[in-house]
Amino acid sequence: KKVVLAYSGGLDTSAIIPWLKETYPGCEVVAFCADVGQGDEELEGLEEKALASGATECHIVDLKEEFAADYIYPTLKTGAIYEGTYLLGTSMARPVIAKAHVEVARKVGADAVCHGCTGKGNDQIRFEGCFAALAPDLKVIAPWREWSMESREDLLAYLAERDIPCSASLTKIYSRDANAWHISTEGGELEETWNQPSEQAWVWTKSPEQAPNEAEYLTLAVKNGEVVGLNGDTLTPYQMVVKLNEIAAEHGVGRVDIVENRLVGMKSRGCYETPGGTVIIAALEAIRELVMDKRSREWLHTVGEQFAHLVYDGRWFTPLKDSLLGAADAYSADMNGEVVLKLYKGMVTAVQKRSPNSLYSEEFATFGADDVYDQKHAEGFIRLYTLSSRIKALKDQEK
Ligand code: ARG
Ligand code: SIN
Repeated sequence: KKVVLAYSGGLDTSAIIPWLKETYPGCEVVAFCADVGQGDEELEGLEEKALASGATECHIVDLKEEFAADYIYPTLKTGAIYEGTYLLGTSMARPVIAKAHVEVARKVGADAVCHGCTGKGNDQIRFEGCFAALAPDLKVIAPWREWSMESREDLLAYLAERDIPCSASLTKIYSRDANAWHISTEGGELEETWNQPSEQAWVWTKSPEQAPNEAEYLTLAVKNGEVVGLNGDTLTPYQMVVKLNEIAAEHGVGRVDIVENRLVGMKSRGCYETPGGTVIIAALEAIRELVMDKRSREWLHTVGEQFAHLVYDGRWFTPLKDSLLGAADAYSADMNGEVVLKLYKGMVTAVQKRSPNSLYSEEFATFGADDVYDQKHAEGFIRLYTLSSRIKALKDQEK
């Protein structure tokens, strides 16, 4: 009788409102929109639009700080990157949105939630995975898996028949998803892997060719595994991401163009822009270089790899998430320091780094005589370290 719809004001979710009311006669539709930093243009006039399309209420929930502090920053501590390149921008936003979606459903006493994801993608699994964990009693409605409409033409005709105003145009080349961390672009010419992305595929970032000829240097302060300061100013996680996006986009930093494995088994091609995130990750990586021993780096790599799959696959609200975050967080107390990053034509390089917890010592590394490292000790170490190889070789000689 009451359903909360994740509403964006776009063509798909505008058509979903009348469709819900016709498919479930007597049902009331409440629109919900999460503000995860996708930009004011998307939120402008949203409430009027939702009501004009037939919703009874529209809840816009500001999740920007929560998204950055409780989802992005913890994920960064694990070093998670999906399939080597994707910084998980869309994936990380799903749990914070789903959680707020459920909260609105509870507040208005709804018995169902509805989303506009297609039946071919990851997002449906992520949202529904969160719903299952947070509100197993709520019915989930996924119109794209139910109705017979297949194209934008179909949706526009559906709205026109019902006299529902919609400003969406017939031609929309790309499918995009934006939030504070990134913007993703799929579809259009990208569907052919032999096509180079056209310049209009990129939204936030300048091309490296168009970027300034002068490099820009940024100083990032890291405290307890989090980037907290930029050029001497203390910023919240959300402010940090926004500010760094602005600066790094100008230098063409953070473009990624990949073919990835979706959870549903098919491959898809996407262009992702994560300018600020790319800078933050470079800074954290520089501190890890100084602070972590070999085995810890190896272990964190495993944790990050697992965490990337967890986030991508929509398993945020699980005990595994707490377990992996706990493992990464065990290192946080030592992750402190300062990094100077050079931004230049699509590149970001850590050119200066220091940490009070650094294990690097100029004295130990240089070739002079010293107390902690007697070169004679290396001989015995190497004898034992290579012992199994020696035994094997001797055995082989006997044959
Ligand atoms: N392929 C990326 C992911 O699964 C981006 C998805 C973009 N989502 C969208 N609704 N356009 O995380
Ligand atoms: C969708 O199908 O809704 C977007 C793409 C994805 O979720 O992977």
